[in-house]
Amino acid sequence: MSDDPSLDAAYALDGAEGARRLYRDWAASYDGDFAAVQDYLLPAHVARHFANLGGQGPVLDVGAGTGLCAEGLARAGIGPIDGIDLSPDMLAIARAKALYARLLEADVTGPMDLPHAHYRGIVSSGTFTLGHVGPGAIAGLLAHAAPEALIVLSVNVKHWDSAGFDAAFEALAGRITSPDRQEVMIYGPAADPAHRDDRAWLVSFRTLA
Ligand SMILES: C[S@@+](CC[C@H](N)C(=O)[O-])C[C@H]1O[C@@H](n2cnc3c(N)ncnc32)[C@H](O)[C@@H]1O
Repeated sequence: MSDDPSLDAAYALDGAEGARRLYRDWAASYDGDFAAVQDYLLPAHVARHFANLGGQGPVLDVGAGTGLCAEGLARAGIGPIDGIDLSPDMLAIARAKALYARLLEADVTGPMDLPHAHYRGIVSSGTFTLGHVGPGAIAGLLAHAAPEALIVLSVNVKHWDSAGFDAAFEALAGRITSPDRQEVMIYGPAADPAHRDDRAWLVSFRTLA
């Protein structure tokens, strides 16, 4: 894997160590050189969808990164917001924005020191994607969701098929409502042509009562 902090390097990640290294090198320039230049729409899509579906706090932002999704949640008046992320460097940028009640450095695919059955909402933008997190992490997150919690995750369209999200959601059928999926553009028209047409599903569902 290249250490160059780029989208292609991110999509080619293959483990936690590589992710920590890439996001260490990317954190300081992520909001400016990536999100602004590439017209990165996805965090705002996730936050808006969560708000439009009546989402409420406390909410957990999974793969919080520099806090772009929390910016959208806060604009919609939603809080308190907790966040988890593998990268201490991305979390440091998020922390400086003072949007989160709590930020935890943790791998979402393992045990997380978070309260059980607590969150009325869970959101995630850009983390269920190629080279990052697969559907196996969803079951672990559900342990931290309150009954009837609203969950809105973005899943890269290419990742959906290659990582087996259909089968994973079928296996969760007794624990959550049937997931709804809406397709959105990840980037706006100003993005690099190589990624301008990249798309994600906004997947929404609730835990059962
Ligand atoms: C593309 S960034 C998205 C950040 C932010 N949500 C956004 O939309 O701007 C992906 C984030 O997922 C985090 N990440 C990757 N693998 C992870 C894992 N296994 N557990 C927790 N966070 C992870 C990375 O550190 C990075 O901050």
